[in-house]
Parts: sequence; C-alpha cells; structure tokens
Amino acid sequence: MGLRKGLDISMYDRKTLSEVIPGDVILHPLYRSDGLLFITRYKTFSKSIYSHIRKQFNSKLPILTTSIPVDEKLLESLYSDPDFILSLKSVFEIHKSNAQSNIQFQDFIDCSYFHPSADIKIEKDTSQKINYPLLNWDIVNSTFDSERIISRARVVSERFTNIFKEDESLYELYLSLSNYHDVLYIHSINTASITFMIGLSLELSDDELINLSLAALFADIGFINYSESEFSDYLNTGRLDKKMFTEHIKGSVEIISKSKFCRQKDIVYGILDHHEEYSGTGYPHGKVSEDIHLFGRIISIAQKYDELVGGYLLEEIYYPFEALESIWYNNHSKYDSRIIYSFVSKSKIYKLGETIQLNRETVGEVIGFSDYLNFPLHPKVKLTNGKIIDLKNNSEALF
Ligand SMILES: [Fe+2]
Repeated sequence: MGLRKGLDISMYDRKTLSEVIPGDVILHPLYRSDGLLFITRYKTFSKSIYSHIRKQFNSKLPILTTSIPVDEKLLESLYSDPDFILSLKSVFEIHKSNAQSNIQFQDFIDCSYFHPSADIKIEKDTSQKINYPLLNWDIVNSTFDSERIISRARVVSERFTNIFKEDESLYELYLSLSNYHDVLYIHSINTASITFMIGLSLELSDDELINLSLAALFADIGFINYSESEFSDYLNTGRLDKKMFTEHIKGSVEIISKSKFCRQKDIVYGILDHHEEYSGTGYPHGKVSEDIHLFGRIISIAQKYDELVGGYLLEEIYYPFEALESIWYNNHSKYDSRIIYSFVSKSKIYKLGETIQLNRETVGEVIGFSDYLNFPLHPKVKLTNGKIIDLKNNSEALF
C-alpha cells in the first residue's frame, strides 16, 4: 500500500502486532488500556519493546508501520496521501474502542504534517511549538464523571499549556526531557497526567494543580545528567543506588531552577520528597508521613503506578488493575493511603456499570461488591462470556 513515488517499495504497511518485526517503525503512538501513553510515534520496534507489547496488547491489534527511514520527505508524502489518512483513521477507531479512555484523533496524528480536510476536523492549535499534549487531558473525561471536576480540568489545562507557550525557559526544560530517553519522557508525561487527576480529586486549587503537574513532569529530569547508556543500565537492572537516588533528585532541582516559574517552594519540595516513603523508609532523608510534602506523596504514588503499568524496569509489567491493587494492598505502608482512597472514591474506577480490563483478553463489567468498605478494589465482575467473578475471592485466578 501507498507506494513511494519512483520507488517500488511501500511507504507504509498495515500490520497486526503479531506481524511486526524488529526494525519496523510505528507511525502513530500506542496508548495503554488505561489511556496513558505506551510508545511514541516513530518508535523503532526492538525485541524488548515487542516483549512488553505482547503482554499488554491483543496480538490482532492493527498498527501502521514503515520499514523505510522516517524523514520529512516521507512524512510529507504520507500525510498528503488520502489513503494513508483513511488507514490512520480506521486504525485509530479500533485503538479508541480498545482503550477505556477518550483518546482523540488529534493525539494520534502528527500535527506538523497533517492538513485537515473537510471531513476530518481537529481542534488542535497547530501553531504551538509543542507537538505533543504535555498532559494527557483526555483521560480526565474517562476517569471522572463529575461535570465540576471535568470543567475544572479543562480550564486548568488551558492555563498550563499557555504557561509553556509563554515561558521560554519552561519550554527549554520540556525540550531537554523529550530529547533524552523515550522512557523518561513517556514516564514523566504519564506521571504528570496521573498527579493532575489525583490533585483534582484532592480539591487542590488551580495554582496548586499547575505546580503539582510541573513538579511531576520534571521530578526525574535530573537523569539527563547521566549518559543514555547509564540510564538504560538502570532500566535493565532496576537498581538505583543511593548515590543515583540523591544525585538525580539534586539534579532535577538544579535543572528546574533555570526556570523562574519553577523556583516555587511547593514545586521544589515536591521534587525533593518524591522518593520519600510514608513509612519512613524512603530517600534521601527517611522522612515520615506528613513531614513529606503533599506533592512528594502524590508524585510517588503516580510514579509507582506508571512504572508498573509501563513496565519500564526489568521485564515486569502489570495491568492497570494489578498495579493499583499492588500499590493499595502490597505497598500500603509506603504510600499515603488516604490519597489513593480519595482518588479511587471520586473516580469512575471500580464503579458500578464501569468496565475493567483484567488481562489482555479479559474485560468485565462491575456489577457489585460483596464488601465495598473493606475491599473497594475488589468488585464482582461480569465477564464478556457471561461468567461472574468475585475479585474479593479470586483475583489471583485471573493471572
Ligand atoms: Fe525519581
């Protein structure tokens, strides 16, 4: 499909995930079942990405790939080919129906090359310098059902984007993050989106929400002081020695200080405390419970959740359901459980009538709880095959 002018090779292919081979480049982003980013567009498939994909996604999921180098010329040809746009649209529709969130076509395409036509309209401001939404605001719509929370999110998100447009030093920080390692970039954006939602559930003010999201976005920017191979070593071994803990936190604070906007007390403390643990077992100072800045307590929960679902460290990867369960029950003492409780209570997660993806193939609808007060994360679920499972008794049996 889509032959390149003068060349007898295909500009792009529509493949299922099982047909992808190492070296193929994906032409659009891939979103996880919780609506957060899994890989960015133009990522080359490697064996390690492939092994992660196999656990998270259905092998029949279609994607668009290319086997030729992605450059401006290729992207201009692709985006001026109506067949490519139609293919993108059709693949997007399938991805949208698979993700339990509100991903938008404008997140799927490259706005730098896309020329909207009469039948496909996008609202995105293509003049903005940042070509990826800084925070995944769409996810708010599918996470909350309170109109009040959703409209607050819309207002604050606009302010957040405007701050980046107007403040050159913040944009520079974003650029250094996006030009470093993919994993750090995706993890930072996802963590910022999650903290934003947690902040909304904790009724933080608009200014606090902006500062919290900024602290989360740049909490780990200090890693850019390490070479990419040192960072990859950390991802492969999952080991962060004491020195690296202390240094990356210090590095993040030093780097964000280049931006006047970021030199605010709660942003700095949020970053300084993001590896402290509620039980006093964290780094760098072993602070306990509320001695840890609220932003630090929120960021640590968001980072842990995204780390487990993103599967960045080692080869471990969790479904959203497993990750939340692991943080709530297994690591209870490390996190401020009131924050998790407030988020879960106000969100649509684990609510009657909502859908849960239990594993790659199993999706169920929440039909009730046998003990909501003690086990709010363990609903009774009706699977698509009609079988009813009470997760309070047998969540283990699913995995
Ligand atoms: Fe960190």
